[in-house]
Amino acid sequence: MALIRRLQLNTGTVKQFSGILQQREVHLPSFVYDKAYVDGKWVAATSGMTFKVLNPYDGKSLGVVPNMGEEDCKAAIEAAHAAFQEWQNTTAKERSMLLRNWYNLLVKNENELAKIITLEAGKPVKESVGEVQYGHSFVEWFSEEARRINGEVLCSPVKSKEMILIKQPIGVTGLITPWNFPMAMITRKAGAALAAGCTCVVKPAEDTPLTALALAALAEEAGFPKGVFNIVTCDRDNAPAIGKMLCESPLVAGISFTGSTEVGKLLYKQCSQGVKRIGLELGGNAPFIVFNTADVDKAVVGAMASKFRNCGQACVSANRFLIQEEVFDKFVAKLTEKMQQELVLGSGITSTSTLGPLINITQTMKVNKIVEDAVQKGAKVLLGGKQAVNVGERFYEPTLLTNVNDSMTCYKEEIFGPVAVCIKFKSEEEAVSIANDTKRGLAGYFYSNDITQIFRVAKKLSVGMVGINEGMISSAEAAFGGVKESGIGREGSHHGIDEYVYIKYLCFGNL
Ligand code: SIN
Repeated sequence: MALIRRLQLNTGTVKQFSGILQQREVHLPSFVYDKAYVDGKWVAATSGMTFKVLNPYDGKSLGVVPNMGEEDCKAAIEAAHAAFQEWQNTTAKERSMLLRNWYNLLVKNENELAKIITLEAGKPVKESVGEVQYGHSFVEWFSEEARRINGEVLCSPVKSKEMILIKQPIGVTGLITPWNFPMAMITRKAGAALAAGCTCVVKPAEDTPLTALALAALAEEAGFPKGVFNIVTCDRDNAPAIGKMLCESPLVAGISFTGSTEVGKLLYKQCSQGVKRIGLELGGNAPFIVFNTADVDKAVVGAMASKFRNCGQACVSANRFLIQEEVFDKFVAKLTEKMQQELVLGSGITSTSTLGPLINITQTMKVNKIVEDAVQKGAKVLLGGKQAVNVGERFYEPTLLTNVNDSMTCYKEEIFGPVAVCIKFKSEEEAVSIANDTKRGLAGYFYSNDITQIFRVAKKLSVGMVGINEGMISSAEAAFGGVKESGIGREGSHHGIDEYVYIKYLCFGNL
Protein backbone atom coordinates (compact mmCIF):
# COMPACT_ATOMS: atom_id res chain seq x y z
CA MET A 1 0.00 0.00 0.00
CA ALA A 2 2.74 2.43 1.00
CA LEU A 3 4.61 1.67 -2.17
CA ILE A 4 1.57 2.40 -4.34
CA ARG A 5 0.99 5.71 -2.58
CA ARG A 6 4.63 6.58 -3.08
CA LEU A 7 4.49 5.95 -6.81
CA GLN A 8 1.26 7.91 -7.19
CA LEU A 9 2.73 10.89 -5.44
CA ASN A 10 5.94 10.72 -7.38
CA THR A 11 4.16 11.63 -10.57
CA GLY A 12 3.05 14.92 -9.05
CA THR A 13 6.24 15.72 -7.26
CA VAL A 14 8.48 14.97 -10.22
CA LYS A 15 6.67 17.73 -12.07
CA GLN A 16 6.99 20.06 -9.14
CA PHE A 17 10.68 19.44 -8.64
CA SER A 18 11.87 19.05 -12.20
CA GLY A 19 13.11 22.64 -12.64
CA ILE A 20 15.28 22.64 -9.54
CA LEU A 21 16.54 19.16 -10.08
CA GLN A 22 17.58 19.64 -13.68
CA GLN A 23 19.37 22.81 -12.68
CA ARG A 24 21.40 21.01 -10.02
CA GLU A 25 21.63 17.68 -11.77
CA VAL A 26 20.26 15.77 -8.83
CA HIS A 27 17.66 13.06 -8.85
CA LEU A 28 14.36 13.49 -7.11
CA PRO A 29 14.19 11.60 -3.85
CA SER A 30 11.84 8.77 -4.68
CA PHE A 31 9.41 9.67 -1.92
CA VAL A 32 8.45 13.24 -1.22
CA TYR A 33 4.97 13.60 0.19
CA ASP A 34 2.53 16.45 -0.20
CA LYS A 35 0.04 15.18 2.40
CA ALA A 36 0.16 14.82 6.17
CA TYR A 37 -0.15 11.42 7.84
CA VAL A 38 -3.00 10.88 10.29
CA ASP A 39 -4.62 7.62 11.40
CA GLY A 40 -2.77 5.67 8.73
CA LYS A 41 -4.03 7.90 5.92
CA TRP A 42 -2.35 10.56 3.77
CA VAL A 43 -4.53 13.59 4.28
CA ALA A 44 -4.91 17.25 3.33
CA ALA A 45 -5.81 19.95 5.87
CA THR A 46 -9.58 20.13 6.39
CA SER A 47 -9.36 23.78 5.34
CA GLY A 48 -7.62 22.72 2.13
CA MET A 49 -4.82 25.18 2.98
CA THR A 50 -1.21 24.40 2.18
CA PHE A 51 2.13 26.10 2.72
CA LYS A 52 5.34 26.11 0.74
CA VAL A 53 8.50 24.32 1.77
CA LEU A 54 11.50 26.38 0.71
CA ASN A 55 14.98 25.29 -0.25
CA PRO A 56 17.27 27.42 1.94
CA TYR A 57 19.92 27.32 -0.77
CA ASP A 58 17.98 29.63 -3.09
CA GLY A 59 14.63 30.25 -1.40
CA LYS A 60 12.75 28.45 -4.16
CA SER A 61 9.72 26.34 -3.37
CA LEU A 62 10.23 22.60 -3.10
CA GLY A 63 6.49 21.94 -3.07
CA VAL A 64 3.60 22.33 -0.66
CA VAL A 65 2.31 20.43 2.37
CA PRO A 66 -0.96 20.76 4.34
CA ASN A 67 -1.30 23.76 6.59
CA MET A 68 -3.25 22.01 9.31
CA GLY A 69 -5.25 23.67 12.03
CA GLU A 70 -6.76 22.76 15.39
CA GLU A 71 -9.43 20.54 13.86
CA ASP A 72 -6.79 18.44 12.10
CA CYS A 73 -4.65 18.26 15.23
CA LYS A 74 -7.67 17.13 17.25
CA ALA A 75 -8.28 14.35 14.74
CA ALA A 76 -4.66 13.23 15.00
CA ILE A 77 -4.80 13.22 18.81
CA GLU A 78 -8.03 11.20 18.74
CA ALA A 79 -6.51 8.73 16.28
CA ALA A 80 -3.43 8.36 18.48
CA HIS A 81 -5.65 7.91 21.53
CA ALA A 82 -7.75 5.22 19.84
CA ALA A 83 -4.62 3.44 18.61
CA PHE A 84 -3.10 3.56 22.12
CA GLN A 85 -5.85 1.29 23.47
CA GLU A 86 -4.39 -1.60 21.45
CA TRP A 87 -0.78 -0.49 21.09
CA GLN A 88 -0.20 -0.35 24.86
CA ASN A 89 -1.01 -4.07 25.04
CA THR A 90 1.46 -5.18 22.36
CA THR A 91 4.41 -7.12 23.69
CA ALA A 92 7.82 -5.54 23.97
CA LYS A 93 9.02 -8.04 21.38
CA GLU A 94 6.33 -6.99 18.89
CA ARG A 95 7.22 -3.31 19.28
CA SER A 96 10.90 -4.13 19.06
CA MET A 97 10.39 -5.97 15.78
CA LEU A 98 8.40 -3.12 14.22
CA LEU A 99 11.08 -0.65 15.25
CA ARG A 100 13.69 -2.98 13.73
CA ASN A 101 11.69 -3.09 10.46
CA TRP A 102 11.57 0.71 10.45
CA TYR A 103 15.31 0.88 11.14
CA ASN A 104 16.05 -1.49 8.24
CA LEU A 105 14.00 0.67 5.87
CA LEU A 106 15.69 3.84 7.10
CA VAL A 107 19.07 2.23 6.41
CA LYS A 108 17.95 1.06 2.97
CA ASN A 109 16.77 4.56 2.07
CA GLU A 110 19.70 6.42 3.61
CA ASN A 111 20.68 8.35 0.49
CA GLU A 112 17.13 9.31 -0.42
CA LEU A 113 16.47 10.62 3.08
CA ALA A 114 19.75 12.54 3.04
CA LYS A 115 18.74 14.25 -0.20
CA ILE A 116 15.46 15.36 1.31
CA ILE A 117 17.28 16.75 4.36
CA THR A 118 19.72 18.63 2.14
CA LEU A 119 16.96 20.06 -0.02
CA GLU A 120 14.88 21.39 2.87
CA ALA A 121 17.51 22.05 5.56
CA GLY A 122 20.46 23.05 3.35
CA LYS A 123 23.19 20.96 4.95
CA PRO A 124 25.84 19.40 2.71
CA VAL A 125 24.72 15.94 1.62
CA LYS A 126 27.63 14.29 3.43
CA GLU A 127 26.40 15.84 6.65
CA SER A 128 22.83 14.82 5.81
CA VAL A 129 23.97 11.21 5.42
CA GLY A 130 25.58 11.63 8.84
CA GLU A 131 22.28 12.85 10.23
CA VAL A 132 20.37 9.92 8.72
CA GLN A 133 22.84 7.52 10.34
CA TYR A 134 22.60 9.36 13.64
CA GLY A 135 18.80 9.41 13.23
CA HIS A 136 18.32 5.72 12.53
CA SER A 137 20.74 4.80 15.32
CA PHE A 138 17.99 5.89 17.74
CA VAL A 139 15.48 3.58 16.10
CA GLU A 140 17.94 0.70 16.29
CA TRP A 141 18.81 1.55 19.90
CA PHE A 142 15.20 1.78 21.05
CA SER A 143 14.28 -1.41 19.18
CA GLU A 144 16.75 -3.03 21.57
CA GLU A 145 15.76 -1.04 24.66
CA ALA A 146 12.09 -1.90 24.07
CA ARG A 147 12.82 -5.37 25.45
CA ARG A 148 14.46 -4.13 28.61
CA ILE A 149 11.71 -2.00 30.14
CA ASN A 150 11.65 -4.15 33.22
CA GLY A 151 10.06 -3.60 36.58
CA GLU A 152 11.39 -4.42 40.05
CA VAL A 153 10.52 -6.89 42.78
CA LEU A 154 11.03 -5.13 46.12
CA CYS A 155 12.14 -6.61 49.43
CA SER A 156 8.94 -6.34 51.38
CA PRO A 157 9.29 -5.33 55.05
CA VAL A 158 6.11 -7.32 55.90
CA LYS A 159 5.79 -11.12 55.59
CA SER A 160 2.21 -11.01 54.37
CA LYS A 161 2.95 -8.59 51.54
CA GLU A 162 4.79 -8.70 48.22
CA MET A 163 5.63 -5.50 46.42
CA ILE A 164 6.50 -4.94 42.79
CA LEU A 165 7.01 -1.98 40.51
CA ILE A 166 5.93 -2.16 36.88
CA LYS A 167 6.45 0.36 34.07
CA GLN A 168 3.57 1.36 31.84
CA PRO A 169 3.41 3.66 28.81
CA ILE A 170 2.11 7.14 29.63
CA GLY A 171 -0.26 7.32 26.61
CA VAL A 172 -0.43 9.71 23.66
CA THR A 173 2.66 11.86 23.24
CA GLY A 174 3.00 15.16 21.40
CA LEU A 175 6.44 15.43 19.81
CA ILE A 176 7.37 18.93 18.66
CA THR A 177 10.59 18.90 16.68
CA PRO A 178 13.05 21.42 15.23
CA TRP A 179 14.41 22.08 11.73
CA ASN A 180 18.12 21.73 12.49
CA PHE A 181 18.04 17.92 12.69
CA PRO A 182 14.76 17.15 10.91
CA MET A 183 15.18 13.39 11.13
CA ALA A 184 17.23 12.70 14.25
CA MET A 185 15.10 14.79 16.61
CA ILE A 186 12.00 12.85 15.54
CA THR A 187 13.58 9.41 15.84
CA ARG A 188 15.19 10.26 19.19
CA LYS A 189 11.73 11.01 20.60
CA ALA A 190 9.49 8.65 18.61
CA GLY A 191 11.90 5.70 18.94
CA ALA A 192 11.66 5.90 22.73
CA ALA A 193 7.93 6.63 22.79
CA LEU A 194 7.02 3.74 20.49
CA ALA A 195 9.34 1.33 22.30
CA ALA A 196 7.62 2.20 25.58
CA GLY A 197 4.15 1.54 24.11
CA CYS A 198 3.08 5.16 23.59
CA THR A 199 1.52 6.54 20.42
CA CYS A 200 2.71 9.79 18.82
CA VAL A 201 1.50 12.96 17.19
CA VAL A 202 4.54 14.62 15.65
CA LYS A 203 4.51 18.32 14.78
CA PRO A 204 7.63 18.88 12.67
CA ALA A 205 9.16 22.32 12.17
CA GLU A 206 7.58 24.48 9.46
CA ASP A 207 10.88 24.62 7.56
CA THR A 208 11.40 20.86 7.33
CA PRO A 209 8.19 18.81 7.11
CA LEU A 210 9.30 16.67 4.14
CA THR A 211 11.76 14.59 6.14
CA ALA A 212 9.06 13.92 8.74
CA LEU A 213 6.64 12.76 6.06
CA ALA A 214 9.27 10.47 4.55
CA LEU A 215 9.77 8.95 8.02
CA ALA A 216 6.02 8.35 8.23
CA ALA A 217 6.00 6.65 4.83
CA LEU A 218 8.70 4.26 6.00
CA ALA A 219 6.99 3.71 9.36
CA GLU A 220 3.84 2.75 7.45
CA GLU A 221 5.85 0.39 5.29
CA ALA A 222 7.46 -1.05 8.42
CA GLY A 223 3.98 -2.10 9.58
CA PHE A 224 3.08 0.25 12.45
CA PRO A 225 -0.70 0.08 12.94
CA LYS A 226 -2.80 3.08 11.95
CA GLY A 227 -2.88 5.92 14.45
CA VAL A 228 0.32 4.89 16.23
CA PHE A 229 2.52 7.42 14.42
CA ASN A 230 0.93 10.61 13.07
CA ILE A 231 2.37 13.72 11.46
CA VAL A 232 0.60 17.08 11.61
CA THR A 233 2.18 19.72 9.36
CA CYS A 234 1.51 23.44 9.70
CA ASP A 235 3.10 26.80 9.03
CA ARG A 236 4.54 29.31 11.49
CA ASP A 237 1.21 31.07 12.02
CA ASN A 238 -0.67 27.90 12.94
CA ALA A 239 2.14 26.42 15.05
CA PRO A 240 1.25 28.16 18.36
CA ALA A 241 -2.35 26.84 18.28
CA ILE A 242 -1.21 23.31 17.42
CA GLY A 243 1.41 23.39 20.19
CA LYS A 244 -1.18 24.66 22.68
CA MET A 245 -3.64 21.95 21.72
CA LEU A 246 -1.03 19.22 22.15
CA CYS A 247 -0.11 20.62 25.58
CA GLU A 248 -3.67 21.13 26.78
CA SER A 249 -5.64 18.24 25.28
CA PRO A 250 -6.75 15.86 28.04
CA LEU A 251 -6.06 12.99 25.62
CA VAL A 252 -2.35 13.80 25.44
CA ALA A 253 -0.26 12.44 28.32
CA GLY A 254 3.09 14.03 27.59
CA ILE A 255 5.04 16.44 25.44
CA SER A 256 8.59 16.31 24.21
CA PHE A 257 9.99 19.45 22.64
CA THR A 258 13.32 20.39 21.12
CA GLY A 259 13.75 24.03 20.20
CA SER A 260 14.17 27.49 21.62
CA THR A 261 14.12 28.23 25.35
CA GLU A 262 11.46 30.87 24.75
CA VAL A 263 8.99 28.39 23.16
CA GLY A 264 9.98 25.69 25.67
CA LYS A 265 8.95 27.95 28.56
CA LEU A 266 5.59 28.62 26.94
CA LEU A 267 4.90 24.90 26.38
CA TYR A 268 5.98 24.17 29.97
CA LYS A 269 3.41 26.67 31.19
CA GLN A 270 0.71 25.20 28.94
CA CYS A 271 1.47 21.69 30.18
CA SER A 272 1.11 22.78 33.80
CA GLN A 273 -2.66 23.06 33.36
CA GLY A 274 -3.03 19.29 32.99
CA VAL A 275 0.12 18.46 35.00
CA LYS A 276 1.51 16.81 31.89
CA ARG A 277 4.75 14.96 31.57
CA ILE A 278 7.19 17.18 29.65
CA GLY A 279 10.67 16.74 28.22
CA LEU A 280 12.46 19.88 27.05
CA GLU A 281 15.68 20.06 25.09
CA LEU A 282 16.29 23.77 24.73
CA GLY A 283 19.00 26.19 23.74
CA GLY A 284 22.61 26.08 24.86
CA ASN A 285 25.54 28.46 25.15
CA ALA A 286 28.33 25.92 25.13
CA PRO A 287 31.75 26.94 26.42
CA PHE A 288 34.69 25.31 24.66
CA ILE A 289 37.74 25.71 26.90
CA VAL A 290 41.32 25.16 25.79
CA PHE A 291 43.76 25.00 28.70
CA ASN A 292 47.51 25.59 28.47
CA THR A 293 48.11 21.85 28.86
CA ALA A 294 45.91 20.96 25.86
CA ASP A 295 46.98 19.45 22.58
CA VAL A 296 46.13 22.53 20.51
CA ASP A 297 45.96 20.66 17.19
CA LYS A 298 43.37 18.26 18.60
CA ALA A 299 41.49 21.18 20.14
CA VAL A 300 41.29 22.89 16.75
CA VAL A 301 39.92 19.72 15.10
CA GLY A 302 37.31 19.46 17.88
CA ALA A 303 36.50 23.15 17.57
CA MET A 304 35.85 22.85 13.83
CA ALA A 305 33.57 19.84 14.34
CA SER A 306 31.65 21.38 17.20
CA LYS A 307 31.32 24.88 15.76
CA PHE A 308 30.64 24.24 12.09
CA ARG A 309 28.45 21.11 12.19
CA ASN A 310 25.24 22.11 10.44
CA CYS A 311 26.66 25.62 9.95
CA GLY A 312 26.66 26.19 13.72
CA GLN A 313 22.93 25.47 13.96
CA ALA A 314 23.05 22.93 16.78
CA CYS A 315 22.11 23.36 20.43
CA VAL A 316 25.37 21.68 21.43
CA SER A 317 27.48 23.84 19.11
CA ALA A 318 30.47 25.57 20.75
CA ASN A 319 29.26 29.10 21.39
CA ARG A 320 32.22 30.65 23.23
CA PHE A 321 35.84 29.56 22.81
CA LEU A 322 37.68 30.25 26.06
CA ILE A 323 41.41 30.00 25.47
CA GLN A 324 44.10 30.18 28.14
CA GLU A 325 46.57 33.00 27.53
CA GLU A 326 49.69 30.90 26.79
CA VAL A 327 48.02 29.06 23.89
CA PHE A 328 45.62 31.80 22.77
CA ASP A 329 47.61 33.08 19.76
CA LYS A 330 48.53 29.56 18.63
CA PHE A 331 44.91 28.35 18.82
CA VAL A 332 43.53 31.38 17.01
CA ALA A 333 46.15 31.12 14.24
CA LYS A 334 45.49 27.41 13.70
CA LEU A 335 41.72 27.85 13.80
CA THR A 336 41.96 30.66 11.24
CA GLU A 337 44.01 28.44 8.95
CA LYS A 338 41.64 25.48 9.26
CA MET A 339 38.58 27.66 8.65
CA GLN A 340 40.17 29.06 5.51
CA GLN A 341 41.18 25.60 4.28
CA GLU A 342 38.11 23.57 5.12
CA LEU A 343 35.02 25.74 4.94
CA VAL A 344 33.54 26.02 1.47
CA LEU A 345 30.13 27.64 1.13
CA GLY A 346 27.71 26.33 -1.47
CA SER A 347 24.80 24.13 -2.39
CA GLY A 348 24.59 21.08 -0.16
CA ILE A 349 23.95 18.91 -3.19
CA THR A 350 27.42 19.53 -4.67
CA SER A 351 30.12 17.41 -3.13
CA THR A 352 32.64 20.27 -2.82
CA SER A 353 30.77 22.45 -0.34
CA THR A 354 31.24 21.87 3.37
CA LEU A 355 29.04 24.67 4.71
CA GLY A 356 25.45 25.26 3.71
CA PRO A 357 23.14 28.24 4.15
CA LEU A 358 21.36 29.17 7.34
CA ILE A 359 17.83 27.81 7.44
CA ASN A 360 16.03 31.06 6.55
CA ILE A 361 16.40 34.80 6.22
CA THR A 362 15.31 35.46 9.81
CA GLN A 363 18.13 33.27 11.08
CA THR A 364 20.66 34.92 8.74
CA MET A 365 19.61 38.37 9.92
CA LYS A 366 19.84 37.26 13.54
CA VAL A 367 23.43 36.06 13.06
CA ASN A 368 24.30 39.27 11.22
CA LYS A 369 22.90 41.37 14.06
CA ILE A 370 24.90 39.40 16.64
CA VAL A 371 28.14 40.04 14.72
CA GLU A 372 27.31 43.73 14.18
CA ASP A 373 26.62 44.11 17.90
CA ALA A 374 30.00 42.54 18.76
CA VAL A 375 31.89 44.69 16.27
CA GLN A 376 30.19 47.82 17.52
CA LYS A 377 31.26 46.95 21.08
CA GLY A 378 34.89 46.42 20.12
CA ALA A 379 35.25 42.85 18.77
CA LYS A 380 37.95 42.29 16.16
CA VAL A 381 36.94 40.44 12.98
CA LEU A 382 39.71 38.04 11.91
CA LEU A 383 37.63 36.28 9.26
CA GLY A 384 34.24 36.85 7.62
CA GLY A 385 31.84 39.16 9.41
CA LYS A 386 29.07 39.52 6.86
CA GLN A 387 26.47 37.78 4.71
CA ALA A 388 27.93 35.86 1.76
CA VAL A 389 25.47 37.32 -0.74
CA ASN A 390 27.65 36.21 -3.65
CA VAL A 391 26.74 32.62 -2.75
CA GLY A 392 23.16 33.27 -1.66
CA GLU A 393 20.98 35.43 0.53
CA ARG A 394 20.90 32.93 3.39
CA PHE A 395 24.64 32.27 3.48
CA TYR A 396 26.89 33.78 6.13
CA GLU A 397 30.66 33.93 5.90
CA PRO A 398 32.52 31.71 8.37
CA THR A 399 33.46 34.29 10.96
CA LEU A 400 36.12 34.49 13.65
CA LEU A 401 35.98 37.18 16.34
CA THR A 402 38.40 38.09 19.12
CA ASN A 403 38.31 40.85 21.79
CA VAL A 404 34.93 39.55 22.87
CA ASN A 405 33.51 40.60 26.25
CA ASP A 406 30.46 40.00 28.42
CA SER A 407 28.59 43.05 27.15
CA MET A 408 28.13 41.43 23.74
CA THR A 409 25.16 39.35 22.63
CA CYS A 410 27.49 36.64 21.24
CA TYR A 411 28.80 36.08 24.78
CA LYS A 412 25.36 35.78 26.34
CA GLU A 413 23.19 34.17 23.68
CA GLU A 414 23.21 31.16 21.43
CA ILE A 415 24.59 32.31 18.04
CA PHE A 416 23.24 29.41 15.91
CA GLY A 417 25.49 30.32 13.00
CA PRO A 418 29.05 29.90 11.66
CA VAL A 419 30.58 32.45 14.04
CA ALA A 420 33.46 31.50 16.35
CA VAL A 421 34.18 33.88 19.21
CA CYS A 422 37.42 33.67 21.17
CA ILE A 423 37.89 34.92 24.72
CA LYS A 424 41.23 34.91 26.57
CA PHE A 425 41.44 33.77 30.20
CA LYS A 426 44.23 33.49 32.78
CA SER A 427 43.29 30.83 35.33
CA GLU A 428 41.19 27.65 35.56
CA GLU A 429 38.96 29.36 38.09
CA GLU A 430 38.31 32.24 35.70
CA ALA A 431 37.53 29.84 32.83
CA VAL A 432 34.98 27.91 34.88
CA SER A 433 33.42 31.13 36.09
CA ILE A 434 33.03 32.49 32.50
CA ALA A 435 31.78 29.09 31.29
CA ASN A 436 29.06 29.02 33.94
CA ASP A 437 28.13 32.67 33.55
CA THR A 438 24.96 31.88 31.58
CA LYS A 439 21.41 30.74 32.23
CA ARG A 440 21.95 27.87 29.82
CA GLY A 441 23.61 24.55 30.60
CA LEU A 442 23.40 22.06 27.77
CA ALA A 443 26.88 21.03 26.58
CA GLY A 444 30.39 22.13 27.52
CA TYR A 445 33.77 21.11 26.12
CA PHE A 446 37.33 21.38 27.33
CA TYR A 447 40.77 20.30 26.23
CA SER A 448 43.38 19.50 28.84
CA ASN A 449 46.01 16.84 29.40
CA ASP A 450 46.13 17.31 33.14
CA ILE A 451 44.13 14.46 34.69
CA THR A 452 43.48 16.27 37.96
CA GLN A 453 42.25 19.31 36.06
CA ILE A 454 40.05 17.06 33.90
CA PHE A 455 38.15 15.69 36.89
CA ARG A 456 37.92 19.07 38.60
CA VAL A 457 36.60 20.95 35.58
CA ALA A 458 34.25 18.18 34.40
CA LYS A 459 32.52 18.30 37.77
CA LYS A 460 32.43 22.11 38.00
CA LEU A 461 30.85 22.86 34.63
CA SER A 462 27.12 23.55 35.03
CA VAL A 463 26.02 21.57 31.99
CA GLY A 464 24.31 18.27 31.22
CA MET A 465 26.98 16.96 28.84
CA VAL A 466 30.75 17.41 28.77
CA GLY A 467 33.13 16.71 25.89
CA ILE A 468 36.61 16.13 27.29
CA ASN A 469 39.22 16.38 24.54
CA GLU A 470 36.29 15.74 22.21
CA GLY A 471 34.09 18.05 20.12
CA MET A 472 31.44 15.56 18.94
CA ILE A 473 29.55 13.96 21.80
CA SER A 474 26.12 13.00 20.43
CA SER A 475 25.21 9.31 20.37
CA ALA A 476 22.12 7.14 20.81
CA GLU A 477 23.82 5.35 23.71
CA ALA A 478 24.38 8.58 25.66
CA ALA A 479 21.94 10.61 27.77
CA PHE A 480 21.30 13.90 25.96
CA GLY A 481 19.96 16.83 27.94
CA GLY A 482 20.73 19.93 29.90
CA VAL A 483 20.52 21.72 33.21
CA LYS A 484 19.34 25.25 34.11
CA GLU A 485 17.28 26.80 31.28
CA SER A 486 18.53 24.24 28.75
CA GLY A 487 15.83 21.79 29.65
CA ILE A 488 14.34 18.94 31.59
CA GLY A 489 14.73 15.22 31.07
CA ARG A 490 17.08 13.10 29.00
CA GLU A 491 16.85 11.66 25.51
CA GLY A 492 18.69 8.67 24.09
CA SER A 493 20.38 6.08 26.33
CA HIS A 494 18.22 3.80 28.47
CA HIS A 495 17.09 6.91 30.38
CA GLY A 496 15.30 8.12 27.23
CA ILE A 497 12.59 5.53 27.88
CA ASP A 498 11.85 7.01 31.33
CA GLU A 499 10.22 10.04 29.71
CA TYR A 500 7.51 7.80 28.25
CA VAL A 501 6.68 5.42 31.11
CA TYR A 502 5.34 5.81 34.59
CA ILE A 503 6.10 3.55 37.48
CA LYS A 504 3.16 1.77 39.04
CA TYR A 505 3.51 0.21 42.48
CA LEU A 506 1.60 -3.04 43.07
CA CYS A 507 1.19 -4.23 46.64
CA PHE A 508 -0.06 -7.82 47.14
CA GLY A 509 -1.45 -8.25 50.66
CA ASN A 510 -2.78 -11.02 52.90
CA LEU A 511 -0.35 -13.55 51.48
C1 SIN B 1 20.22 19.81 18.68
O1 SIN B 1 20.92 20.68 18.22
O2 SIN B 1 19.10 20.09 19.11
C2 SIN B 1 20.63 18.38 18.75
C3 SIN B 1 22.03 18.13 18.41
C4 SIN B 1 22.45 16.70 18.62
O3 SIN B 1 21.64 15.83 18.89
O4 SIN B 1 23.64 16.46 18.52
